Amino acid sequence: MESSDDTEEPPLPLALSRFQVSEEFGFLLPDPLTELPAPYSPWMDLAQELPQLISSHQLRSRVHQMPQLSTQHLRGREELHLAHLVLSFITMGYVWQEGEEGTVQVKARAPPTGAKPSAVAAAGGPPCLQMGAFPQPGSIPAFPVLCATQVLPRNLAVPYWEVSQALGLPPILSHADFVLANWRRKDPNGNLDTIITLPGGESLRGFTLVTLLVEKAAVPGIKAIVQALGAVLQRDEESLHRALQELAGAIGAMSEALRRMHAHHTLVWLPITSGLNPFLLDYVDPQVFYSVIRIFLSGWKDNPAMPHGLIYEGVSPEPLAFSGGSAAQSSVLHAFDELLGICHRQDTAFVRALRGAGSVRRCVLASGDARLRAAFNRCVCALTDFRSQHIAIVTKYIAIAATKARARRAEPGASAGPSAGKPPAALETKGTGGSHIFSFLKSIRDSTREGLISA
Ligand code: HEM
Repeated sequence: MESSDDTEEPPLPLALSRFQVSEEFGFLLPDPLTELPAPYSPWMDLAQELPQLISSHQLRSRVHQMPQLSTQHLRGREELHLAHLVLSFITMGYVWQEGEEGTVQVKARAPPTGAKPSAVAAAGGPPCLQMGAFPQPGSIPAFPVLCATQVLPRNLAVPYWEVSQALGLPPILSHADFVLANWRRKDPNGNLDTIITLPGGESLRGFTLVTLLVEKAAVPGIKAIVQALGAVLQRDEESLHRALQELAGAIGAMSEALRRMHAHHTLVWLPITSGLNPFLLDYVDPQVFYSVIRIFLSGWKDNPAMPHGLIYEGVSPEPLAFSGGSAAQSSVLHAFDELLGICHRQDTAFVRALRGAGSVRRCVLASGDARLRAAFNRCVCALTDFRSQHIAIVTKYIAIAATKARARRAEPGASAGPSAGKPPAALETKGTGGSHIFSFLKSIRDSTREGLISA
């Protein structure tokens, strides 16, 4: 008699749920919360008004008036994720409210005689005058002062740090916040919207939701990873072939979704819920992306606008440096690279687990099966095409937009600050804007292509 084990499927090597990856939403947070418990209304109220508070230059003074809230009433990962999203957006708005001029080598205004640091801070003075930036508590430095380090005030920095620690996320806006945790259903038909926003209007909304669509389109590919690794373990070439077909299809769908970033259209169909949902989306304007949005995603690591990083008051007396948000932090492409044996650049728990779970590439090479090889190569080509299309988008949204912005900056009367549409000059040569970006992106695209298996 056959044992029941013989008829059962052998266990799959990876369980997505172990890595908080959802079968339905992939790396997206499934149905993120949109409200925090009542005690956190000071955070939520501020977060809901960010574009207006930034354009009217009031956010910093409103942050200074905010009470310092304890994080102990936050329950579960969902509330922590929303708290991180909200505090990240407030922090980016706070740091970049005045554009790069408000962060680097600011000449301080002389405070009124006898003024305490907190009074200057409450008046929304330059960032280097804000709480904790004084050499000793309560002392007033000689004025004017040159200072190069920004301070995130204690009432924001301490809870932000605690929530970041609880989630294992950096205390800065990342892809995990502004895309993965920043979506909600706008109505019962499944139309989507973002939860929190910054200056950039419809272009920011479009940028976030198109990136979200790319993540969603990847979901069948993420499931195919599990299937492919299971097939390698079981030496089941038929199942491996199906998984590779599935993966190539998913990468193709990601390219389709990415194309929506720069296609002129008024109606987009979002296959996010059970049905296809109409969703009005305006064009993501390259000038708005370059001049308004990009700075709010910028970090304080290797950024000439904040060469010394940011002091998180009440957390560390030394400034801390963190990179800003980018879809490059998404685990999707890194996971596909890892599966296809292309290159190894990310070290998240999920990608590490793939590394140890068996080699699809070796299995395809060993089989000598032309059909399997063709399916593998379709995945590599789809990934190469996605990266070529991404380079075209970066060219349009950064390189071409930079040329236009330089011309605009030279115009007389160009006003300051990101909400006024003046682009950050420091990002042109470093961070998310420099020409090295293109050699970096092309080298990754080219090494992807080199992953093809020849006959
Ligand atoms: C306006 C749209 C976009 C622009 C301007 C843009 C820009 C960039 C830039 C400048 C880099 C270089 C590294 C960095 O500075 O972070 C990069 C890398 C990357 N981006 Fe984007 N990006 C855009 C949209 C997307 C989307 C929607 C995705 C997909 C989820 C994506 C995925 C990636 C990945 C995976 C990398 C790492 C390089 C690679 O693996 O090929 N990007 N992007």
